[in-house]
Amino acid sequence: MNRSSGPSELHKNFHLDPQSLRAAVLGAVDVLETHLSQLENTPVKPHIDPGTVAAKFAEHAPDQPSDIATLLNIFQNNLLPAVTLWQHPRFFAYYPAATSIPAIVSELLIASLGSVGLQWSANPAATELECVIMDWLLDLLHAPKESSFRHKSKQGGGIIQNTAGEALAAIMVAARVHSHLNAADNSAAAKNISIEDMYWQDSSSLVVYMSDQSHFSGPKAVRVAGMRLHKIPAQKLADGNYGITASQVRQAMEKDRKNGLQPCAVQLNYGSTNTCGYDDLNSFRGFSEQEQVWLHVDAAYAGPALILPEFRERSLLMQEISTSFNFNGSKWFLCGVDSAFLFIKDRQLLKRVFAADGDYMARSDAEQIYNPEFKDWSIPLGRRFRALRIWMVLSYFGRQGLQEFLRKGIEQADAARKKIDASGLLKQIAKTDLGLVCFRLASDDLSKNDLFIKRIEDLSDSGQKFLIYPSVIEGQKFLRLALGGVHTEMKDVDLFLDLCLKAAHDVENGLVQKDS
Ligand SMILES: Cc1ncc(COP(=O)(O)O)c(C=O)c1O
Repeated sequence: MNRSSGPSELHKNFHLDPQSLRAAVLGAVDVLETHLSQLENTPVKPHIDPGTVAAKFAEHAPDQPSDIATLLNIFQNNLLPAVTLWQHPRFFAYYPAATSIPAIVSELLIASLGSVGLQWSANPAATELECVIMDWLLDLLHAPKESSFRHKSKQGGGIIQNTAGEALAAIMVAARVHSHLNAADNSAAAKNISIEDMYWQDSSSLVVYMSDQSHFSGPKAVRVAGMRLHKIPAQKLADGNYGITASQVRQAMEKDRKNGLQPCAVQLNYGSTNTCGYDDLNSFRGFSEQEQVWLHVDAAYAGPALILPEFRERSLLMQEISTSFNFNGSKWFLCGVDSAFLFIKDRQLLKRVFAADGDYMARSDAEQIYNPEFKDWSIPLGRRFRALRIWMVLSYFGRQGLQEFLRKGIEQADAARKKIDASGLLKQIAKTDLGLVCFRLASDDLSKNDLFIKRIEDLSDSGQKFLIYPSVIEGQKFLRLALGGVHTEMKDVDLFLDLCLKAAHDVENGLVQKDS
């Protein structure tokens, strides 16, 4: 090895030298400044083939060191043009992943500290701030002071997870063990079985119920937990969108019980991914207690809107009926990715599955309000200081700012809904009330609708003007216009809708052929 050109030559030592850090960060900020100031005129999505990016990189790991300026240059020239731009004003696909200045700045601080909050004493600030902000989130959700979801209650609490999918998997595993413990409680023969034995009990008769409109991470979580899935067909409810009711689930449970199966849990949607439909939460009042099942509500996308005063009753209803619920800070709440909030009414339900210790860990103090060991609440041991990001976002915007942001998305969606309804060419396929608008060609001729969708898909695929994906409900294709991006303005929505109207007009007038 040529020592004179090794890392110690170029980078001096491995210290986080403040001057070098400053210069490096300012270099990155310069790149971001250029990127953000050109964002509107940049394609939303690269129009490239798989392998294009990889071909720009050496086949083997670099032997020689590089400086930050070189790396930023490669980022700017070889990577940025191949990034799908989720913060683009006309990114209408999936659900948004809104980020913000405090979220970005906090990531710099989090990465610079490199502090791993694997237990309270490993970073007291991380654990305590996480308790504080999870209780703040409950304030925003109108939770009563005495809510058992609060850390302050010392009964339940909230924890930040990477994603909703991970939260659902942890909950399903906890629900399985809970079912076995309940069964043991009710069986004299099983009374002396230890908690360790509960982890490997036969779960093949346990069933989890959810709508066929649930996000696929719901069924995936059931698979991870090793249980059966009973999907219930969603129907159009009185609110004009798709969801399931308690009586549908009860019927399914009755049938399963007759076949020797045992209901374990129900996962409900508050804002499905496909059409932002709500399951009929009201009909699930008392359900968990009556049926002796775990009831989880997935509010990954729609949860943030519950902070609006007009949705107070809905929020309280969700909290009343659920054993646990989750919503994402990463979709429509300005917190950026990897911030999924999971709340549980009884923390023991998680702890008795995930609590684990090693002789190499620091001794834990007796649990009080602000020192729960979050490693005992979920799968990972190492935890990023994500609470810092959430604290910065909540503090920077405040309740008022967050509400304004949500309202902006809803107002844009309302305007889009109006324009679609008034067009005569397009129609909504389900009633939505948040930032998602679901629509298709108004014509009953499905082949025409297919042509219309294909036209928009082709435009989207080019990545030049906007990004949107179609979906399917009741066998019919439709477009999911997901608003709520930080840079999206009404002119962006109008530009997109005008292109849709032109495509609809062309299809209706025979100007678009099947293979065009
Ligand atoms: C309702 C719902 N649940 C779960 C998920 C999965 O989210 P995550 O990517 O955080 O796992 C999504 C993603 O869009 C969603 O909309």
